[in-house]
Formats: sequence, C-alpha cells, structure tokens
Amino acid sequence: MAKIRKAVFPAAGLGTRFLPATKVIPKEMLPLVDKPLIQYGVEEALGSGVEEIIFITARGKGALEDHFDISYELEKTLEERGKTALLSISRQVSHLTNVVSVRQKQALGLGHAVLTARTVVGDEPFAVILGDDIIDSETPCLKQMIEVYEKYGGAPVIALEEIEGEAISRFGVIAGEEVEPGVYRLTDMVEKPKLEDAPSNLAIIGRYVLTPDVFELIASTDAGVGGEIQITDALRRLAQTRPFYGLKFKGRRYDAGDKMGFLEATVELALKREDMGPAFRQYLKTLPLD
Ligand code: UTP
Repeated sequence: MAKIRKAVFPAAGLGTRFLPATKVIPKEMLPLVDKPLIQYGVEEALGSGVEEIIFITARGKGALEDHFDISYELEKTLEERGKTALLSISRQVSHLTNVVSVRQKQALGLGHAVLTARTVVGDEPFAVILGDDIIDSETPCLKQMIEVYEKYGGAPVIALEEIEGEAISRFGVIAGEEVEPGVYRLTDMVEKPKLEDAPSNLAIIGRYVLTPDVFELIASTDAGVGGEIQITDALRRLAQTRPFYGLKFKGRRYDAGDKMGFLEATVELALKREDMGPAFRQYLKTLPLD
C-alpha cells in the first residue's frame, strides 16, 4: 500500500469573509495568537508523516511561500542583535519543510483547486488539508485518518464531525454504516442539505485522504453555480466505485475561516499556551461578562 507522502493545501480562495483584513494579506497568514493559520495545518501534515507540501495558490498569495523560506535579512538582524530565541523561532519555520506551489488561475472552486495539483501529485494517494479548519488533538487528525486508510487497505478516508441542528446545512453530509466505533463506510454524500433532508448528522470537514482516481472524477464534474467545481460530486462518485470511509476524528475543530470560529480558536489556544495562558486567564476573569 502506498504511503501518504504528499499533502495538498488549497489556498487560492478569496477569503471574502475576512474582508478588509484579507484584501492584501492572504487569509492563511492570519495568526492565531502568533502562528499563521497555514502553519498549523503544515505542522499537522508533517506530524502525520507527510513529506511534501503542495500549496494551491493565486495572485497575492506569495506570503505563503515566503513564510516557509529563509528570511535572510530578518535572521541576520536578529543574529546581530543577539536575539537568539526569536532567531530560532524564525529558523524553525524555514527548516520545517520545502513547499511546492501551483497556481490556480481562477478561483473555480475547491474541486478545481484539487485538480490543479494533479501533475504534482501524480499517480499516488495524497492528503488534502483545508487550512481554515484548525484541529487541536492529541494525535494529529490526518494521522488518525491515515491509520484508517492503512487499516482498510488503502481506501480513501474523509474526516467527519457531528453537527447538531440547522448548522448541518453549511456542510457536505454523509450517509453510511458504522463499521467500528467512529469509522463509517460511506454510501452517499449530499452537499449542504436542509436539516430535514440531511441523511445523518455527520458533516464532512476539511481533511481528506484521497486516491488518485479522484482526479478523473473531478475532471468530469460539471461546473455549478458561478462556474465553480465542487468536490462533493466527485467524492460521491468515488464512493460508488470503491470502498470509502469516514472517520469521526478525536479532537476539537475550529472553523478559523469564520470570524466567530477564529475568535474561539484564538481564545482557547491562547489559554492553552504555557507562556501566556495563566496571564490571559487572569485577564479574562477581570472582564465584566454578564
Ligand atoms: P472557502 O469556501 O472557505 O472560500 O474555501 P474562501 O475564498 O477561502 O473564503 P470566503 O468564503 O470567501 O471567506 C475553502 C478552501 O478552499 C480553497 C480556499 O482557499 C479554502 O482553503 N479554495 C476555494 C481554493 O483553493 N480555490 C477555490 O477556487 C475555492
């Protein structure tokens, strides 16, 4: 069975929910406390055994590549000023990984973004990580998924989360049969159903382990509203051609692409930090919250 060596990070979206912050700065570079969103995802991928990071970018997203590159002037200045702790933080990022980036020339949807990675991924299974979904967990979420991929003979796996009530209509939702606690063999998927039409309360979130046959399925997917090619239709057809699993991952997900989720992540991750958590907790207690 092929190892999951490559992770694709679609990052060519316009980030309109964060305007005006994202007019010039890529959404993926917004920091949670002091680390850009994209770095959380990259660290998760590397912590799951991925060796190659592939960014799907667009005009104005150059900061993503620069972030993982050596910043010569910054490092030289920090070195000259004897700021060794800060120097090591900057160096750690550039030493994390090499990145490959591919341009998606028009934001034609998530399916189209993944298809853009086809020649770089080649004929091997790969991961897709949506950097907006920040997952705080003991075992990296992607690693949990790769364990399922390996256990079920190299079958594709998507990450699932239970969503209660009307909010389910914002997600792709699966139908499936639970084959072991937390693992579902998928029979169908529906994009953004009404609550009464949702086949389950299990929503698809931003982590996928996919087999390369998905590219052909995306390529033959018709464009929908606004010329966008979504991924759910191709995943649905993939589930019809081979066993496909969903994993209810263990951990806490934050939708950092949404303002409320971004704030929740900021507060909770700051509280967990050893260096600033206690002081931040004290500060929060002084707020008149009632
Ligand atoms: P979103 O739906 O969050 O869109 O895309 P967005 O443009 O990033 O943000 P909003 O909704 O305008 O605020 C989900 C993921 O798919 C990527 C995005 O970069 C994001 O990581 N994406 C989306 C692409 O790479 N290309 C696309 O054409 C669309």
